[in-house]
Amino acid sequence: MLRPVPRDTWGGDSPAVDVTADLESGAVLLFPNLAFDVHVNERAYFSPSIAVAKNVSFDPASGRLGGVAHADEALTAMLRRFSDAAAALVGAAFPPYAGRLQRARASFRPAEIAGRQTTWRHDDTRLHIDSFPATPVQGRRILRVFTNVNPEGRPRSWRIGEPFEAVASRFGNQLKMPAPFSASLLRLARITKSHRSPYDALMLQLHDRMKADMAYQSNVAQEAVDFPAGSTWVVFTDAVSHAAMAGQYQLEQTFLLPVDAMRQPARSPLRVLERIKGRPLV
Ligand code: SIN
Ligand code: FE
Repeated sequence: MLRPVPRDTWGGDSPAVDVTADLESGAVLLFPNLAFDVHVNERAYFSPSIAVAKNVSFDPASGRLGGVAHADEALTAMLRRFSDAAAALVGAAFPPYAGRLQRARASFRPAEIAGRQTTWRHDDTRLHIDSFPATPVQGRRILRVFTNVNPEGRPRSWRIGEPFEAVASRFGNQLKMPAPFSASLLRLARITKSHRSPYDALMLQLHDRMKADMAYQSNVAQEAVDFPAGSTWVVFTDAVSHAAMAGQYQLEQTFLLPVDAMRQPARSPLRVLERIKGRPLV
């Protein structure tokens, strides 16, 4: 499930071996020596108090920061530099996706994960697949680039669980099709920023069913993985079951990918759930 890739530059040439098929098959691609260069003046932001929310977010389209008390030029510049680096990486590493990856938000995660108090639904130390309540993806894949920028050399510790097909068939009959008009009501109430498709509704339920099931959390086949400080990893987090157990200071960039841009669209959560439900979901 962990596929090391020997690459230590963000941009540049595409790899001799195409790793896109591994990525689509549910591997976590690990770039062990691909570090992000934090500038000396940016060290001042390495404190949990920099964020008023859980994370600092950055919207590359508008250049705006979220989750901070005040707009800050140098912090914005750091996130922009990371966002551009992540875009260069996916551009170089996945030639089949050229021109199809859509850059969404980036984040800086300054809080220690271990021991954080949250509700079960927000508790990312429980195995889950990613699904966004407020920003529906309408079937598109969620591809994320993570870099551990811990200044003390501490790893980010994850657990990785069973493949998406197994998760979907285990919980499939607990997933209920959303009521007609529910998507319009969510949109009207501004709970969602765009139309929540049946696919998005089912993925949110799947996320919740996994997290709510404590027997599943402890009994399902899983593996602990430590991502070293100074490493980068890339994963489809809508399909790979993951839990973040410990670690502090991480950068992350999200990309969305239309299913028809995949080499193996049949492996997408959209197509897997459509097979189980026997109907189109977007
Ligand atoms: C998550 O997506 O569950 C959190 C990943 C992380 O912050 O390491
Ligand atoms: Fe997650």
